[in-house]
Amino acid sequence: MSLSGHHILVFDSGVGGLSVVSEIRARQPNAFLSYVADDIFRPYGNKTEAQLQSRLPGLLATCVKMLDPAAVVIACNTASTTALPPIRAQLNIPVIGVVPAIKPAAEKSLTNAIGVLGTPGTVRRAYVDSLIADFASECHVLLQGSTRLVAEAEKKLAGEGVDMRVIREEIAPLFAGRIGADVDAVVLACTHFPLLRDELQASVTQTVKWIDSGAAIARRLDDVLSDIPKRILPTHEQTAFLIGPETDAIRAKAFSNYGFMRTVGLQP
Ligand code: DGL
Repeated sequence: MSLSGHHILVFDSGVGGLSVVSEIRARQPNAFLSYVADDIFRPYGNKTEAQLQSRLPGLLATCVKMLDPAAVVIACNTASTTALPPIRAQLNIPVIGVVPAIKPAAEKSLTNAIGVLGTPGTVRRAYVDSLIADFASECHVLLQGSTRLVAEAEKKLAGEGVDMRVIREEIAPLFAGRIGADVDAVVLACTHFPLLRDELQASVTQTVKWIDSGAAIARRLDDVLSDIPKRILPTHEQTAFLIGPETDAIRAKAFSNYGFMRTVGLQP
């Protein structure tokens, strides 16, 4: 029997988009998702704007041609803050990007001292500066970029242990000095980082709200899909396509925990 619904493509440089997948599945338990991880080009956080702007529109166009989804979720802050307009220009379906949760963090902070923990690329982007100017102008904002945390999240989902020393070292600048001591809200401005929420929480002594954008993207996706007619869904299992060689069984198991029962390696 063929089912109808919406087929959505979720894209990230690696496993980070799975933190967004959780939120999408919580709102839409019957959603049919495909996932693409650009493993071979990860981490995005240390790539230049020009590199991402030249790679991503063509890559997403190829994925959309291959999978024919109704909409694309760019579940990656680095890609969203760098290349959303050129990606949208290449595709004729809705593209939903991630907006770092600076506004909710500023609203929730009682001390008006917030941190933004993203990739080095994201925390340098003009888009983040304008979010801060628009929504957190009353706050002290400490920015911290990390690619080592991206690697720790990948390790965690590949079944390897997380190095807590790395977690502590990478977030220490957010809690240093007089302003750092006041920080009570931290924006998780990289989709890999909610996967490390327990480890982040265990690495600080002060009370901190860790705020990500996953639920907001899932809500936005609901709105977008409400205007799109349902279609017959693919009959194969929901699949994670991994660009590159990292398709071992443990990583495949991690994807299956998020509803992707099949993992397929794609050669770049
Ligand atoms: N998960 C991504 C993000 O939200 C990218 C991490 C990376 O590849 O550096 O920024």
